[in-house]
Amino acid sequence: PRKIIIDTDPGQDDAAAIMLALGSPDEVEVLGLTVVAGNVPLTMTSRNARIVCELSGRPDLPVYEGALKPLERPQVTAEHVHGKTGLDGAVVDEPTMTVRDQHAVDFIIETIRREEPGTVTLCTLGPQTNIALALQKAPDIAPRVRELVMMGGGFSEGGNITPAAEFNIYVDPQASKIVFGSGIPIVMMPLDVTHQLMTTKARVARIGAIGTRPAQVMVEWLQFFERFDIEKYGSDGGPLHDPTVIAYLVKPELFAGRHCNVEIETESDLTVGMTVVDWWRVSGRKPNAMVMRTVDADGFFALLTERLARL
Ligand code: BDR
Ligand code: CA
Repeated sequence: PRKIIIDTDPGQDDAAAIMLALGSPDEVEVLGLTVVAGNVPLTMTSRNARIVCELSGRPDLPVYEGALKPLERPQVTAEHVHGKTGLDGAVVDEPTMTVRDQHAVDFIIETIRREEPGTVTLCTLGPQTNIALALQKAPDIAPRVRELVMMGGGFSEGGNITPAAEFNIYVDPQASKIVFGSGIPIVMMPLDVTHQLMTTKARVARIGAIGTRPAQVMVEWLQFFERFDIEKYGSDGGPLHDPTVIAYLVKPELFAGRHCNVEIETESDLTVGMTVVDWWRVSGRKPNAMVMRTVDADGFFALLTERLARL
């Protein structure tokens, strides 16, 4: 299995991603979860990560707390989507497992330095503050990272927090600029992909039919999370973002895209956090990311359902 670190800000869809990973031990070995402020403040994302571990029967999985706020910009959160706790929708026990003493940034650095070069994959499901801090503190880790697979950004779909920006990049564009300039091979799952992954009633019902406690809680979380899009856009369900990152590692053939240049807007008030994707390669700038654009949606939900059933 591929060794991965999941950097996350749970979030119901982050929870789905973590559970997909924990249900796929043949393909991915989760070395640890690093949490960051994002959907909700760090104390809550930390709590939520531990709830997901315990729900998945993995109270042994190490969880490390990272950045409390973005590198430069004031903190922005998304309670309007995820609820006050970030994991609203289901009644779950407060976690009993504790976080590790080590800071997330130091865990990331130490792990990449310890493991064989080219073997650790970073998965980012939230703002990329922790990764940027690690790269600033230890630039030597960049060439040792196998790949960074991320959910964030958008191009033909526009943005979801401003007309131009997707939430994860908008929250900490300075961090994403560092990541995209690092030379690490990047695979990007933008809104263009995730907006094709609607949690329709039929798909959620198939998860519910698994009949286990983790699956039942996932159904309740998804139903809470999607209400935002149902109310706002009248859609059947909402888009499922973060599990795309893990699905790519388990079954890359579900996705298709193009290797191209991506730059992050950090200056303009109007478009800050925008991912400027050179899909048509008109800029002459060097490609720095594999930008996915299409996904086999039924294949994706079949995979998610199958792996949730293994927890
Ligand atoms: C991203 O923002 C968060 O609200 C979700 O967890 C996902 O990572 C989607 O824009
Ligand atoms: Ca997230």
